[in-house]
Amino acid sequence: MAHLESVLPINKLQGKVAIVTGGAGSIGEATAHVFANHGARAVVIVDVQDEKGQAVVESIGSERCSYVHCDVSDEEQVKDMVDWTVKKYGQLDIMFSNAGIASKSEQKLLDLDFSQFDRLFKVNVRGMAICVKHAALAMIAKGVKGTIVCTASAVSDNWRGATTMTDYIMSKNAVLGLVRAASQQLGVHGIRVNSVSPSAIASSITVDSGMTSSEVVEKVFGPFTPLKGIRLTAKHIADAVLFLVSNDSAFVTGHDMVVDGGLISIPHLNF
Ligand SMILES: NC(=O)c1ccc[n+]([C@@H]2O[C@H](COP(=O)([O-])OP(=O)(O)OC[C@H]3O[C@@H](n4cnc5c(N)ncnc54)[C@H](O)[C@@H]3O)[C@@H](O)[C@H]2O)c1
Repeated sequence: MAHLESVLPINKLQGKVAIVTGGAGSIGEATAHVFANHGARAVVIVDVQDEKGQAVVESIGSERCSYVHCDVSDEEQVKDMVDWTVKKYGQLDIMFSNAGIASKSEQKLLDLDFSQFDRLFKVNVRGMAICVKHAALAMIAKGVKGTIVCTASAVSDNWRGATTMTDYIMSKNAVLGLVRAASQQLGVHGIRVNSVSPSAIASSITVDSGMTSSEVVEKVFGPFTPLKGIRLTAKHIADAVLFLVSNDSAFVTGHDMVVDGGLISIPHLNF
């Protein structure tokens, strides 16, 4: 039996309907592929980058993947997008609320630019809460014991402090607060809510902090990462999300899964 499992594909999400916000970006795209490879009946890519979103649909196949343009910080748009998903595919089983942005400047406390701060909170905090709210409402309406995963960050709760990215770190701490509150309040409906907290991969979100390639990310984080001989990729994060949305984690809720090669275990680590 063990031998069979190693050669036959195991579809952990057979028949499930999933939404991936920020699905046109690095982590979202990788996760959409992992969901599809594990038998998801439908994966809805949600983003504001239409061309990239459509390209992800083409790479997965339009018979079980769709793209919806939706700004996650706009409640009406999110409600319409969730309603559209339920109407087209019958129900919603999985919400991967992953869309997020970084500020353009360093956002050190004494230089905080509050127009950037507000823009970032609108997407990273308000957007996350809107997506969790409307996913949960859709699941409850259909009696679906669904799963929700939000993308936080290794820089959230676990960090001892930071010399930069003040607004971003604050926003990711808020995501953990949301996940904890939601897991408490939605448990009665059988809905699980968890978060995934990656350390760093090069993506459009890291460009403004100068991390433009995986080599640069490795230079910055590698020396502080206890786990050697391996670099974090979007696929590693997607696999952690797969665990959190599948039955493999059936009794796990309110948990923050850190995917960082041990980075946060370094005492008094500051960036
Ligand atoms: N890259 C990292 O090192 C890292 C580390 C920890 C956490 N994260 C988090 O992971 C998530 C995904 O980041 P990524 O690295 O894949 O970056 P990315 O920029 O490649 O992807 C983010 C996606 O979100 C989309 N998006 C932004 N604002 C949106 C909005 N208002 N409505 C809908 N979509 C919107 C973007 O268009 C983009 O496609 C983010 O929440 C980010 O904060 C990233």
